[in-house]
Amino acid sequence: MAEAQQISVHNKFENFTKTETGDDLFTKAFKVNDVLKSGALTGNEGLGMVAGDKLQGEYLIRNKSGEFRSVIMLGSNSYLNLSTHPKVIRAAQNALNKFGYGMGAVSNYVGITDIHKELESRIANFYKTDAAIVFPSGYGTNVGVISALCSEGDVIINDSANHASIFDGCRLSGADIKVYPHSDMKGLERVLKKIPEEQTGRLIITDGVFSMDGDIARLDIITELAREYNCRVMVDDAHGVGIVGETGRGSAEYYNVIDKIDLHVGMLSKSPGGLGGYCAASFEIIQYLRLYARTYFFSTALPASVAGGLNEVFKLFENDNAGRDVLWEKINYLKSKLTEAGFDIAHTQSAIIPVMIYDEEKLFKIHAELLRSGLYTNIVTYPAVRRKECRLRLCAMKELTFKQIDRAVKILEEAGKKFNVI
Ligand SMILES: Cc1ncc(COP(=O)(O)O)c(C=O)c1O
Repeated sequence: MAEAQQISVHNKFENFTKTETGDDLFTKAFKVNDVLKSGALTGNEGLGMVAGDKLQGEYLIRNKSGEFRSVIMLGSNSYLNLSTHPKVIRAAQNALNKFGYGMGAVSNYVGITDIHKELESRIANFYKTDAAIVFPSGYGTNVGVISALCSEGDVIINDSANHASIFDGCRLSGADIKVYPHSDMKGLERVLKKIPEEQTGRLIITDGVFSMDGDIARLDIITELAREYNCRVMVDDAHGVGIVGETGRGSAEYYNVIDKIDLHVGMLSKSPGGLGGYCAASFEIIQYLRLYARTYFFSTALPASVAGGLNEVFKLFENDNAGRDVLWEKINYLKSKLTEAGFDIAHTQSAIIPVMIYDEEKLFKIHAELLRSGLYTNIVTYPAVRRKECRLRLCAMKELTFKQIDRAVKILEEAGKKFNVI
């Protein structure tokens, strides 16, 4: 009994991050492993599964006991299914054949090819900026851009729901970090008013589409406030690019403020279906980042095959809509079915649809039930969101069939009723 109680006190993710007095540095890792073996670390059951075959709208996944099962996939960020688009694969294969599977050097030391340069100009052209820089990781893009441009004495103003990589970049920069409540524009103005006049290095950063809520930042108001309070604006539109806005140019296009954003950051790993991230901006800023963004300067360049595939993706974005209209039909259908079933899906405006559960214990039980019934969704709780705002995170994909969506909602409905969520 005493042992069981001890485990339950220590079974939260955040209890294993510090070295306790008298412990060796690695003791926390051994402790968390003991708790994992006991099965008492809540929340990790749904993590670490392995993808097998990807069929249309369904994946084979292998769970921890080694069994494969087929699930309807509502947990992938490849919203437009571009990672398996035949033209994209062909372009990646051509680049692979020509340049091999790794670059063997960082970008500034001949780690890049004309394929990489083409990708940067396609991205710059997409946002109508002078230039763009491509980083080998999305996470590293935010960390690199922010820590290069901001330092001690500057101030960075963040939406509370910004992605972890943004906050990590802010911390690394040494700048003052201010946070306003999620999408609270009055809150943003309150923060801006309090910044001392002499603190002139000011950057507002926001996700474009918020990664856990699916709503779009009020870039119309943010850019207006930035002008009034002399701030630069950076938007991380990881989940907006290719999907939101009239021509898929993302959240800034949605509010018609593309030319008012100083730093267009985006990830090549979500709707573009590849890997890496980018920043599109003025020529001088991109040149500066090539020298001062440490996650660019000190990190091996993106494989040419990925860059080659991504060139094809940006051609599709420019020329044939990349199936955006079809995706939106699926998004709207899934949203209406979930609402009809009585689920709280918050205020999503994108392919990310949160299904709010608000109770962590229920969340884990529901997730396990969904898996048993053949549906995969992401499971989101601390540290990605506050525990009391825990949820399932559903992602719509272009290739899901309406029949699969019906089946998915039916599975969700049964689980929701069983655990009194609807
Ligand atoms: C808003 C946002 N920014 C940055 C990242 C990091 O991108 P990547 O997974 O490509 O490293 C993510 C990924 O989860 C994200 O959602």
